Amino acid sequence: MVIPANSILITGASSGYGAALAEVYARPGVALWLGGRDEARLAAVASLCRARGAEVTARRLDVTARAAMAQWIEECHRGRPLDLVVANAGISAGTGGIPKDGGVEAPHQAQRIFAVNVDGVFNTVEPAIPLMRGREPRPGVAAHAARGQIAIVSSLAGFRGFPGAPAYSASKAAVKAWGEALAPLLAREGIAVSVICPGFVVTPMTARNDFHMPFLMTADAAARRTRRGLDRARRRIAFPWPTYAAAWLLGALPPALGDRLLKGSPGKAPFNEGT
Ligand SMILES: NC(=O)c1ccc[n+]([C@@H]2O[C@H](COP(=O)([O-])OP(=O)(O)OC[C@H]3O[C@@H](n4cnc5c(N)ncnc54)[C@H](OP(=O)(O)O)[C@@H]3O)[C@@H](O)[C@H]2O)c1
Repeated sequence: MVIPANSILITGASSGYGAALAEVYARPGVALWLGGRDEARLAAVASLCRARGAEVTARRLDVTARAAMAQWIEECHRGRPLDLVVANAGISAGTGGIPKDGGVEAPHQAQRIFAVNVDGVFNTVEPAIPLMRGREPRPGVAAHAARGQIAIVSSLAGFRGFPGAPAYSASKAAVKAWGEALAPLLAREGIAVSVICPGFVVTPMTARNDFHMPFLMTADAAARRTRRGLDRARRRIAFPWPTYAAAWLLGALPPALGDRLLKGSPGKAPFNEGT
């Protein structure tokens, strides 16, 4: 049975995968609450979604601003009770080009990645939980999702620590484990939690990668694949399967063997202050 989602909040909707997801959900009768930092790009995504018939409210907001995030999420829920909250905003950087004596990652890289990718997810999901808890279960909707759905965007990079992106893979492992832990707790209360683990997707984030990305998908294909999983409130939405199988196996192997397989693998570009 398809879980209905007619009031949807998405962070990081101004670009890439978040923007594609907004467009995939945009249709008459749907209210979209879109967050991002770049006002112009956010406005462009909002007008594309309006052209598809959705009612769109866009807000320029940094996910690390905890109090402002809580206030925004509450305002959206008051506007129309949230059926689906997607914690998508994220940044990425790695060890590419770091000189041998230059340390592991660029200065403040790990802290900034964790602030956005981990604290930003907490700041999005935590305010949504009491709001969803407080609403009446939607009639005719499966009990484990009757009060709403939460989607956490992790990555296949979260299945193991990758030397090319230490803090990034750690941040994605953190939110993956957090979402997996929340899922059975919140399902009892009628809130379904899905953890999304995409492989490589064509977005501005991957445009910085100067290495081969196997099974690279378009943002639209990734968003459609994600929606199919969310429609069924799947606990884990991981794709495409060949990269998923490889990431799963790398995570399951003894670390020394995994290290050998990853030896010489390229690093993501390092952090710059504009990220
Ligand atoms: N692309 C991939 O291959 C891939 C694979 C697996 C997982 N993911 C995950 O998918 C998510 C989206 O990534 P993407 O590939 O679509 O990258 P992207 O095109 O760079 O988009 C990132 C989005 O996050 C927003 N964002 C970044 N920092 C923010 C902050 N502090 N506050 C609010 N919004 C912020 C950006 O907003 P502004 O642009 O307005 O600043 C943008 O909308 C990320 O969590 C990423 O880790 C991506």
